[in-house]
Amino acid sequence: MKKLAAGNWKMNGSLEVLAELAKLEIRHKESTVDVLICPPAIYIQPALSLFSSISIGAQDCHMYQSGAYTGNISAEMLADLGVNSVLVGHSERRIDHTETDSMVLQKALAAQTAGIKPIICIGETLNQRESGQTLNVIEKQMNGSLHKDLTSYPFVIAYEPVWAIGTGHVPSSQQIAEVHNFCRNYLEHNFHEIAANTPLLYGGSVKGSNAKKIFAIPNVDGALVGAASLKVDDFSSIIEALEKS
Ligand code: 13P
Repeated sequence: MKKLAAGNWKMNGSLEVLAELAKLEIRHKESTVDVLICPPAIYIQPALSLFSSISIGAQDCHMYQSGAYTGNISAEMLADLGVNSVLVGHSERRIDHTETDSMVLQKALAAQTAGIKPIICIGETLNQRESGQTLNVIEKQMNGSLHKDLTSYPFVIAYEPVWAIGTGHVPSSQQIAEVHNFCRNYLEHNFHEIAANTPLLYGGSVKGSNAKKIFAIPNVDGALVGAASLKVDDFSSIIEALEKS
């Protein structure tokens, strides 16, 4: 399985940042890992014209193909542009847009139908972790947002503890390992042979300075990076750490 360094810009960045990040194409020309940038939707087209070896993804898609859904973008439209991956179920979407596990599943299936790889995000809140609910929450999210229909096509899982996002608080290696091992076992048990080919990303305050340690954890196949993916040197050092892992 190829490892993946994915950047989620959220509602950040600009054409200038995009042009700056194009330096990554030169620095990681012959990369042994996949690199993906998910800018805000409005920057997808310029990003596609600027990048060739780095893939461009979206941060969300609608669950339906078309219709009266003002402000939304369908997976078909993303595929039309040449987008190859889409984040679904990011905690900011789950919390700010009250997205449920079943909506996340519908979006993931819509993406696959359009030929796009969904990156399904899961993760517990601080309250849930502190009350010992982490693995129950992860299992519930996987039960609700994974389905056997998904398993005929590639997909990715990103574990992002909500309390680690944008806070600088990274879980211990043991805590990350526990969830990633749980996810791999869940996939093996429920979806058998696809388990070995489904990358498990870690996300939440990943930086150049902690990337090596995170990538040394068993069953961590890459990262979903927020803030650090907007800065060439920071994202480049994360990609380099993944290449060396
Ligand atoms: P940070 O890397 O900024 O913590 O964001 C993580 C994230 O939410 C990526 O999707």
